[in-house]
Amino acid sequence: MVYIPHDKFARKARQEGYRARSAYKLLDLQRKFGLIKRRDRVLDLGAAPGSWMQVAAQFVGDKGKVVGIDLAPIQPLGSANAAAFQKDIGEEDFIGFLEKQGFKAFDVVLSDVAPNTTGIKERDQALSHELSSRAFEIAIRLLNKYGAMVVKVFEGPDTPELIKEAERHFSSVKLIKPEASTKGSKEFYIVAQGFKGPDR
Ligand SMILES: C[S@@+](CC[C@H](N)C(=O)[O-])C[C@H]1O[C@@H](n2cnc3c(N)ncnc32)[C@H](O)[C@@H]1O
Repeated sequence: MVYIPHDKFARKARQEGYRARSAYKLLDLQRKFGLIKRRDRVLDLGAAPGSWMQVAAQFVGDKGKVVGIDLAPIQPLGSANAAAFQKDIGEEDFIGFLEKQGFKAFDVVLSDVAPNTTGIKERDQALSHELSSRAFEIAIRLLNKYGAMVVKVFEGPDTPELIKEAERHFSSVKLIKPEASTKGSKEFYIVAQGFKGPDR
């Protein structure tokens, strides 16, 4: 059965031409933190079907670039400032792959990556933590100094450790639940700004 969400954000997304209701999570974060600037290079991990890419592409403008990655194919956005690749972020040579495509550094790394949940709480938390940690690791390898990172986490026993690690690398770290996040879900976003310097 195909699940079609009917809440106000899903309706708004259909009216405003966004591919998913998640667009409003990034718009909310952007309104609060001004993460994405004109001409920025943005890496979007777990990007399918592409609503965060649509939002990011508006903010970076013609001279910026948005690179979206997902296990699933992403339909092209149809704008020259966006590129999408079907790829597993867990692959060992993921950073090498991006470099071969000509992408070596970014101003913003976004991760809305989420695992296929199994329904077993501990297993889902572990899978999610693994993906959030991987996104974090990619961000600190590829961000430019003073860059920003957004990483989705499902709050669990490993979350404080990830936040502590983020605080080591960024001058400002916040844990936020955007308005469009489903109430009652354990989903949060780590919003980290002022990257202290790349590990490359
Ligand atoms: C919540 S969706 C992202 C929605 C997207 N931000 C948008 O606004 O359209 C999470 C995505 O993470 C992707 N994903 C999960 N594990 C992944 C992995 N190892 N590598 C790349 N993408 C992954 C899933 O395929 C799924 O499309």
